[in-house]
Amino acid sequence: MKRILITGDAGYIGSVLLPLLLKENFKVTVFDSLLYGGSSLLPYISNNNFSFIKGDIRDKGLLAKAVKNKDIIIHLAAIVGLPACNKDKDLAYSTNVQGTRNVVNCLSPNQYLIHASTVSNYGASPGNTCDEKTPLRPVSYYGKTKTEAGKIVMEIKLILSCNKMKLENLTAFPDLEKPADETTWNVLGVGKAI
Ligand SMILES: NC(=O)c1ccc[n+]([C@@H]2O[C@H](COP(=O)([O-])OP(=O)(O)OC[C@H]3O[C@@H](n4cnc5c(N)ncnc54)[C@H](O)[C@@H]3O)[C@@H](O)[C@H]2O)c1
Repeated sequence: MKRILITGDAGYIGSVLLPLLLKENFKVTVFDSLLYGGSSLLPYISNNNFSFIKGDIRDKGLLAKAVKNKDIIIHLAAIVGLPACNKDKDLAYSTNVQGTRNVVNCLSPNQYLIHASTVSNYGASPGNTCDEKTPLRPVSYYGKTKTEAGKIVMEIKLILSCNKMKLENLTAFPDLEKPADETTWNVLGVGKAI
């Protein structure tokens, strides 16, 4: 049974991803500072395949302990969106950039990392369309920190022979009326590739 660590899983994306992974019998540990509370995790506390660590990805020691012995790390923890990042730029940078570096630095060569990127990395692209080859020109501070985080993830290959994947075009809309498998098809697609 694959052991998965998800950072930032108490947030929006995590709230739809977690039940899907538990349904597939993955053993899931959630690592989250509960910046916005943890109510989405409550239905799973009695699930034997679920465990929770209240922690901050800027706490290198605690993070390293959590990453150890996991097969897959799904890195969602971030300060998300322009308003939240502009409100506290130091927090946004230390979480989105330094926090991502901490995650990467904890990895062993046999571990998989799934990093949640964002379309905000592209900024305003000519013609309003973009693909993997479109240059990254982030406009917002959110996009800038996520672009820097993405570059850190892409450097892994140079440091370790570590397996990595990056979701570039992930955009999810908080339409909670939708069934979870419709909302998160792109996240699941990567899970299946593993
Ligand atoms: N929601 C979207 O449409 C969307 C689109 C593209 C990319 N993403 C990316 O997906 C990821 C998750 O997005 P979301 O919408 O679920 O965000 P969210 O704000 O709903 O959740 C973020 C979670 O991260 C946690 N967190 C924040 N700082 C932390 C820290 N220092 N240590 C540990 N946990 C911390 C928060 O407590 C929260 O539970 C982010 O990396 C985001 O950039 C989201």
